[in-house]
Amino acid sequence: MLKDAVQEVRVFAPATVANVACGYDVLGFAIDAPGDEVVVRHSPKPGLRITAITGDGGKLPKDPEKNTAGVAALDLLRHLGMTDRGIEMEIHKKMPFGSGLGSSAASAVAGAYAVNRLIGEPLTKKQLLPFAMAGEASADGAWHADNVAPCLLGGIVFIRSNDELDVAQLQPPANLWAAVVHPDIEILTKVAREILPAEIPLVNATQQIGNLGGLLCGIIQEDYGLISRSIHDVIAEPRRQKLIPEFYKAKRAAMAAGALGFSISGAGPSVFALCEGEETARKVGEAVSKVFSSVPLGNQIHVSRINPHGVHVIDEKSPA
Ligand code: HSE
Repeated sequence: MLKDAVQEVRVFAPATVANVACGYDVLGFAIDAPGDEVVVRHSPKPGLRITAITGDGGKLPKDPEKNTAGVAALDLLRHLGMTDRGIEMEIHKKMPFGSGLGSSAASAVAGAYAVNRLIGEPLTKKQLLPFAMAGEASADGAWHADNVAPCLLGGIVFIRSNDELDVAQLQPPANLWAAVVHPDIEILTKVAREILPAEIPLVNATQQIGNLGGLLCGIIQEDYGLISRSIHDVIAEPRRQKLIPEFYKAKRAAMAAGALGFSISGAGPSVFALCEGEETARKVGEAVSKVFSSVPLGNQIHVSRINPHGVHVIDEKSPA
């Protein structure tokens, strides 16, 4: 029998940039902020209950079987044979839906991680991956770990196989920064996936594989030139850019301000640039923001180092 180490846990799960241009469904990284928070506590009443959700504009269901954080937590509790445990959960959404920032993945990761911590950490972070994935898949119906895995583990995560959940975590180069800009429109991941072709020409597959290999080598070798030459997406970006106003103008502005490369964050509408150094990342964020503001389109800039930690505990209360 595992001992309950804590009475209440509050966790933070960060936003993530999926695809990273050339790694459609197989590459992602975490940033420091924004992110979702989930609070869980023991309750004398058996079963998992979602008692409060904030920041969602009333859109999210409180039924744990229909909520990404709830599904992830329930999947974990079923696996452990602990569904009769009395647990209350609060979800605090701090980023918009359909933003390209991995919002549903963050809630799913936070749900699984918080409950695992509350019941005495029977599983490691990496072992939580399938349960967080089940939560994320309940939101968008697709099975891709490029938001969930970096949100959970931190750093830059490469997914060799989504089916087998075979993932490799890469340590980011020390001076690699991201500028992420979220324009105030919503893109449903489902819609952004439907506009992609089922098949692609061999020439595009070859280019994409070359760029993905180059990007991974560049990250491992801390070769910013190689990173820069590799951040190109010839598959999703050309089709999805039309969903984002002034995408190519924003890209030109980012490159002119010194970005190593620029593309769509996940399914969009957020866009991201990788940069060498914080100062460049701030300049790039401002330049891209200016383009969206001229549309006019409200937008938020998030400048961050690659977050090496992923989901983590921000507060804990011991049993009385
Ligand atoms: N890899 C996914 C996509 C990320 O591009 O559709 C969506 O969050």
